[in-house]
Amino acid sequence: MNVAIIGTGYVGLTTGVCLAYIGHAVTCLDTDARKVEALKGGQIPIYEPHLDSLIAEAAENLHFTTSYAEAIPNAQVIFIAVGTPPGASGSPNLEYLSQAATSIGEHLGGKFTVVVNKSTVPIGSGNWVGSIIRHSLEERHGRKINGLFAVASNPEFLREGSAIGDSLYPDRIVIGSDESHALEVLYTLYRPILDQTFAPPTFLPRPDDKGAVPLVSTDLASAELIKYAANAFLALKISFINEIGQLSERVGADISEVARGIGLDSRIGSRFLSAGLGWGGSCFGKDTAALISTGREYGLTMPIVEAARWVNQRQRDRVIEKLLQELKILKGRTVALLGLAFKPNTDDLREAPALEIAQKLIERGARVQAHDPIAMERFCREHPASGVHVCEDVYQVLEDCDAAILVTEWTEYRELDWARVAEIMREKVILDGRLVLDRVELTKLGFRYLGLNG
Ligand code: UDX
Repeated sequence: MNVAIIGTGYVGLTTGVCLAYIGHAVTCLDTDARKVEALKGGQIPIYEPHLDSLIAEAAENLHFTTSYAEAIPNAQVIFIAVGTPPGASGSPNLEYLSQAATSIGEHLGGKFTVVVNKSTVPIGSGNWVGSIIRHSLEERHGRKINGLFAVASNPEFLREGSAIGDSLYPDRIVIGSDESHALEVLYTLYRPILDQTFAPPTFLPRPDDKGAVPLVSTDLASAELIKYAANAFLALKISFINEIGQLSERVGADISEVARGIGLDSRIGSRFLSAGLGWGGSCFGKDTAALISTGREYGLTMPIVEAARWVNQRQRDRVIEKLLQELKILKGRTVALLGLAFKPNTDDLREAPALEIAQKLIERGARVQAHDPIAMERFCREHPASGVHVCEDVYQVLEDCDAAILVTEWTEYRELDWARVAEIMREKVILDGRLVLDRVELTKLGFRYLGLNG
């Protein structure tokens, strides 16, 4: 099928490359000419494992452009995957979405096209996008045009860092539209993934237990809500384990054991029960805020989702409390942050706990030194005035520090030569913000090991 993808961020680019890989002819459009030039030259603007290899394999089916006139008229399916950054009141800013919809209307060809919202958009946005396209079409033709397009929602569930695997081997695919023809087109588009009939890339083999992928085919509003409900549920699962973690600390229990003990109940499930600094990233914070904002529009309070956000914030404040308890004075101290990205295997810094923690420490008069295996360059570019001293050598970052905080659980940090670290730190205080280090080993080496929850 001929597919156009508008927006080459994490979601758009991954979706485009995966659809090209399974055999569709994909044109990725972005209005940022520099980005498109870079992509044409084989440079990838984001760090995502395997994306470069998959682009190389799918190259024949993949084109990049800044031109709507080139991408839209022949497309049978158009994905809108533009950014929807957080707005002031918790609801996302839909300016780019509206621009994309207008441009689609200006360039739609003469054949039936399905326009798919792939960006996470507030409930009701499908209708809204439909009306913008209709108006734009009407202005162009000077009359009403019916039946030329249908709007659908196809939420993504991909995680940064494992986006390709999540797209090729998903747990489910959700498509929603109020027009059955649109659902049929999307079913055909996704058939190779639903039936798992494509040849897996050598660098990312199909998991042994992967069978056919379930399809949830539903109305527009339900598909839109599924995305928010999924992210809110995952977010509250993390906040729940962090709340239990706080109690664990007080009663002398081990939160990792508690998480294992409850996670093995298949009704609960063991994933997203890792206690620690809580969630960051572009989705959980923004989507929970948007859900609460939608509830408010309809006169509904959402206390469970609100509490999840509150607990997440408390985890971050807790870092400063813990260090104060241990060091008593933060002024004049040097603190090392291990990890800047919001999670491992990405260079994304959006809502990364490291940023907030660094800021709070600096406000209290501490010097902050930081390291990240991948995100340092981006950090310096995006936060030039942060006051954080970054250094490429992790041991140099730890030298003469009064405390180190493990913020992002990169494998590299688990494998540090901790005996060497013990020699170079001024005070041997480690706050394990992700509960991944070996407490017994570190204590033997003379470290004062602090968990966030005990
Ligand atoms: C998330 C959703 O998982 C994905 O389905 C959605 O489409 C986009 O948002 P992402 O933000 O890329 O994906 O990362 P994810 O792996 O879900 O982690 C989110 C945050 O939660 C990270 O900061 C991570 O460190 C934290 N987390 C995750 C925990 O604190 N504990 C856990 O057990 C799991």
